[in-house]
Amino acid sequence: MDDLNGKNVLVLGGSRGIGAAIVRRFSAAGAAVSFTYAGSQGAADALAAETGASAIQTDSADRAALIATVAGQGALDALIINAGTLVMGDPLQLDADAVDHMIDVNVRAPYHAAVEAARRMNDGGRIIVIGSVNGDRMPFAGGAAYALTKSAVQGMVRGLARDFGDRGITVNSIQPGPTDSDMNPADGPMAPMMHGFMAIKRHVKAEEIAELAAYLAGPNAGMITGSMQTIDGGFGA
Ligand SMILES: NC(=O)c1ccc[n+]([C@@H]2O[C@H](COP(=O)([O-])OP(=O)(O)OC[C@H]3O[C@@H](n4cnc5c(N)ncnc54)[C@H](OP(=O)(O)O)[C@@H]3O)[C@@H](O)[C@H]2O)c1
Repeated sequence: MDDLNGKNVLVLGGSRGIGAAIVRRFSAAGAAVSFTYAGSQGAADALAAETGASAIQTDSADRAALIATVAGQGALDALIINAGTLVMGDPLQLDADAVDHMIDVNVRAPYHAAVEAARRMNDGGRIIVIGSVNGDRMPFAGGAAYALTKSAVQGMVRGLARDFGDRGITVNSIQPGPTDSDMNPADGPMAPMMHGFMAIKRHVKAEEIAELAAYLAGPNAGMITGSMQTIDGGFGA
């Protein structure tokens, strides 16, 4: 029903968490899926064996390697940029290199990957960036640097949607709220505080994010572009 069968799909950061759920969802729909990872080779190999997807070790912080990997996938039907890191804490104490690395992975990499993919993407292609509801709302201390990276994604999505619209290529962000993963476990110490900001007080499931990605990549979403699709249980309401 998704019409994803046979589509050429690249997921950046697919070895764990939300990215792995997206790899599973698109592979199950019959897409030809490749995904990148940085450090989790065991998880990547296991996911590749499980789904039939191809795992490629590419650190999104390495711009040249990232561009080469995106270019190497040829004419993509969908690029899903999920790789991201989270650095939180008192900005007066945070390590500046760690903050800059997060900006490299969460901001620079999505921009360069999206542009590179668009060079040879099929008309009607899809670019989907996993942003965050924190791009809209940062309701507790310690999240300024992370929030700035996710707000930057919003500006990029709006601009690239206009750059590539004449080819029918859509560019959107999915903005999860708290989502159960290694980054943000549903049973972690921060969970009760985060649930306090939500209308529906549970973590989002990675599979729910993957379902939204499949919809955006599918044939019925051709007029959704330049948009932020928030899936957060009301965190940002
Ligand atoms: N979980 C949440 O509550 C939440 C909420 C809003 C938004 N998000 C966003 O959703 C995305 C995925 O989050 P998650 O919760 O699934 O995180 P996660 O469990 O920490 O998984 C992150 C994934 O990204 C990959 N990755 C990280 N740095 C990379 C790099 N430099 N190069 C290539 N791949 C890299 C990891 O691969 P390796 O392990 O191989 O390095 C892993 O597959 C992120 O953009 C995050 O900001 C998450």
